[in-house]
Amino acid sequence: MKRTIAGQRIIVTGASGGIGRAIAENLAAQGARVILAARNLDRLKELETSIRGNGGEAFAVPCDVTKPDDRQRLFAATVEHWGGLDGLINNAGVSAWGHFQTSNEALNRTIFEVNFFAPVELMRLCMPELTKGEQPFVLNVTSMCARRGMPAWPEYSASKFALIGMCEALRGELVRFGTDLITIVPGLTKSELNQHLLRSDGKFTIPFETGMEPAYVAERIVEAIRANRREVVLGGEAKRLIFFNRFVPKLTNWLIARRVKKLYRDSE
Ligand SMILES: NC(=O)c1ccc[n+]([C@@H]2O[C@H](COP(=O)([O-])OP(=O)(O)OC[C@H]3O[C@@H](n4cnc5c(N)ncnc54)[C@H](OP(=O)(O)O)[C@@H]3O)[C@@H](O)[C@H]2O)c1
Repeated sequence: MKRTIAGQRIIVTGASGGIGRAIAENLAAQGARVILAARNLDRLKELETSIRGNGGEAFAVPCDVTKPDDRQRLFAATVEHWGGLDGLINNAGVSAWGHFQTSNEALNRTIFEVNFFAPVELMRLCMPELTKGEQPFVLNVTSMCARRGMPAWPEYSASKFALIGMCEALRGELVRFGTDLITIVPGLTKSELNQHLLRSDGKFTIPFETGMEPAYVAERIVEAIRANRREVVLGGEAKRLIFFNRFVPKLTNWLIARRVKKLYRDSE
């Protein structure tokens, strides 16, 4: 099935910057009607104006995805504005870079609220309306850490693993309602994720500047929506990591352990 994006009514969470903003811009340029959701209303309004200035259709709804009332307001505003919904893109996310032993329960719960509970509850809320939509779909932005947990990303890896597990289970259920579920597994991307880290005291400096451009990631995501792909891994290092982990897991574990030991030895 090839999906026709023009005309689709699509919610994009985390649209105030990074990958989410690029997805919204790309979709609007293809003729989709996008609902821009995030907490920073100034940034959303600026994007709404920019999309409309380019002839696209968009409207901004301030929303903290971890708050049930905000999610309900986002959903209600979408249906009221456009009379329905065809796509939900769960992109909003947050991360933390640091070791488990010095982390804490509050941080773990915050990451799970944003990266797992919020997208899951948005799916539950939107599903009845999506099933009435045109070529409906849900797309979840996970991470390469969702296919291979990485040291110093313990909570983040776990939250994205949980989301991917939920997606795999749901995919089978959603078939009954004609709704597709697309999973994106990106590697390092040059967004503002590094500025939004809840903590950043891992031993290694992550080379975010070498990551993929958000516009490239968005282009591949929109292609995945159009081609109705099941799961798409983006970025050379993500592909290599997942390949190694699948086919030579012992070697992968050994290489990672060696790296961690060296980092700690060097810093002590
Ligand atoms: N950058 C990478 O290397 C990378 C790699 C793999 C996967 N990813 C994933 O890609 C997705 C997008 O991240 P990004 O790289 O574009 O990071 P980013 O630049 O930090 O953008 C994150 C977005 O999420 C929104 N957000 C965070 N908490 C929210 C909340 N409680 N409610 C509503 N919106 C919230 C932020 O908006 P507000 O602050 O305005 O709310 C922002 O628009 C995330 O799921 C991330 O895990 C990123």
